Amino acid sequence: MNYRHAYHAGNHADVLKHVVLARVIEHLKQKEAPFRFYDAHGGIGRYDLGGVEAEKTFEWREGVGRLFSTDGAPLPLSGEAEALLAPWRTCVAAMNEEGGLKQYPGSPEIARLMLRPVDRLRLNELHPVDYETLLKAYAHDGRTALSRLDALVFLKSQLPPPERRGLVLIDPPYEKTDEAERALRMLSEGLKRFATGVFLLWFPVTGDGLDRHILNRVRDMPVKHLWVSLNVRKPMPDGGLAGSGVVVINPPWKLGGELEVLAHTLAERLSQGEPRYEIKNAAP
Ligand SMILES: C[S@@+](CC[C@H](N)C(=O)[O-])C[C@H]1O[C@@H](n2cnc3c(N)ncnc32)[C@H](O)[C@@H]1O
Repeated sequence: MNYRHAYHAGNHADVLKHVVLARVIEHLKQKEAPFRFYDAHGGIGRYDLGGVEAEKTFEWREGVGRLFSTDGAPLPLSGEAEALLAPWRTCVAAMNEEGGLKQYPGSPEIARLMLRPVDRLRLNELHPVDYETLLKAYAHDGRTALSRLDALVFLKSQLPPPERRGLVLIDPPYEKTDEAERALRMLSEGLKRFATGVFLLWFPVTGDGLDRHILNRVRDMPVKHLWVSLNVRKPMPDGGLAGSGVVVINPPWKLGGELEVLAHTLAERLSQGEPRYEIKNAAP
């Protein structure tokens, strides 16, 4: 396992993924009944933007760095988009209470900050060193349990949640050639066990057509879904991460409209040349 998220934390793809995640959590909290959050690929949860890894790539500067200044002040989006961004912004601000923009919250931290005392977190990470870091950061949280399993094994062993309400994040690195197939399998196996669950699947846009392959396969699934993709520049073969997207299975009502507003505004803000976004709402 070579991939370490610390090199990429807070980049444009993290911003899109975490903004969508925060919106979905916000919707789930509108009902009083508790729910469970499953992070199948947790990473380490909290990222140091001044750390050795972040300073090798400085990817965060073209991501979270376009939404906060280095002294920690928000760089607001226009109109309605800023209100929709608020749950994510609050998480970033909570990690930087001592001033500046020094830390970035990964998905476990966003969930920890946003979930209520009645909700539960299940965090999984396979990398041995990153798992230890995650364990140290979250073992004390009474709502949280952690595991070090392959993500597919993790989901098969955990679903369905006892609460019958839940959100599953599938966020693999896509470094190995079979990872897209495995992620799609996680979706289909997950849905077999928990048909009413909300599932988020993150995917990269790199110019190799993998995004279209994933979306075609999701389109054929007999389940209500939407997806959003945001390219900050034109994808080219071997041109790196030009964009990314998130599929939302069983999306909360109104999420599609919110993502339309957000993606439009974020595409302008995160642009590295030729920005483009797409939203598709699809019924089964
Ligand atoms: C993109 S990062 C996750 C980032 C995190 N979800 C966030 O948004 O903050 C992907 C993580 O998956 C882990 N990983 C890779 N293969 C895995 C597998 N088969 N099962 C579980 N975790 C895996 C990697 O070690 C890495 O930490």
